[in-house]
Amino acid sequence: MKWIEVNSYDEMSEVAADIFTKQLQVKPASILGLATGGSPVGMYKELVKRQQAGNISFNDVITFNLDEYVGLDQSSPASYWTFMHENLFNHVDIKEENIHLPNGKAENLDEECVAYDARIKEAGGIDLQLLGIGVNGHIGFNEPGTSFESLTNIVELTESTRTENAIYFDDSKDVPTHAITMGIQSIMNAKEIILIAFGEKKLEAMEKLKSGIITEDFPASQLLNHPNVTIIYGGTK
Ligand code: GLP
Repeated sequence: MKWIEVNSYDEMSEVAADIFTKQLQVKPASILGLATGGSPVGMYKELVKRQQAGNISFNDVITFNLDEYVGLDQSSPASYWTFMHENLFNHVDIKEENIHLPNGKAENLDEECVAYDARIKEAGGIDLQLLGIGVNGHIGFNEPGTSFESLTNIVELTESTRTENAIYFDDSKDVPTHAITMGIQSIMNAKEIILIAFGEKKLEAMEKLKSGIITEDFPASQLLNHPNVTIIYGGTK
């Protein structure tokens, strides 16, 4: 596990964008695993700038997002589908048919979970996976206690996660109780992973990760078993 300490959110975004840029320059038809939340917004802005300047292209890129709320329409302002379009997809040359997010409105959610992992496999597997981290160590929406062997699955969100994410909803009561998320194993299957975390709030999670203890009570700790992970973090001292 490689640790890169940065001094600002903007620096974190640039360092992360550099890794994505290199990936797209080396392999224009990359399969990218993407994340939502406040952490990646700056990196997406940077990638939009670089694409519009002609330094990279998403023309041949295929994306898979980590997760989506169960029960929200794609068009809901709080859906991850909307988040990704507003922050990245609407501003770059990606083909709509190459964008994948789990469908939280699928009639048969269990089938959707199996199909999502199959779609990733069919595409050739994720080359570069971006992760944020929840204050309780969740990655994607894999809450503490999730099996390290989990594939894409339906999860009940913890109160702590629902409170954290309430800022994206008009009323905290509107935060869905469940989500569909790539599992820990689905994430670990990526060839390379970068995790970004900035700010005081993430301090405890970063300390736990640094302690080197691998436990299902702290989902991100499984990343210590992955051969190619970079953690870009800061603002935590
Ligand atoms: C949500 C997402 C996670 C994300 C986390 C942290 O729960 N499902 O993928 O990593 O929030 O978000 P933020 O970057 O806003 O702190």
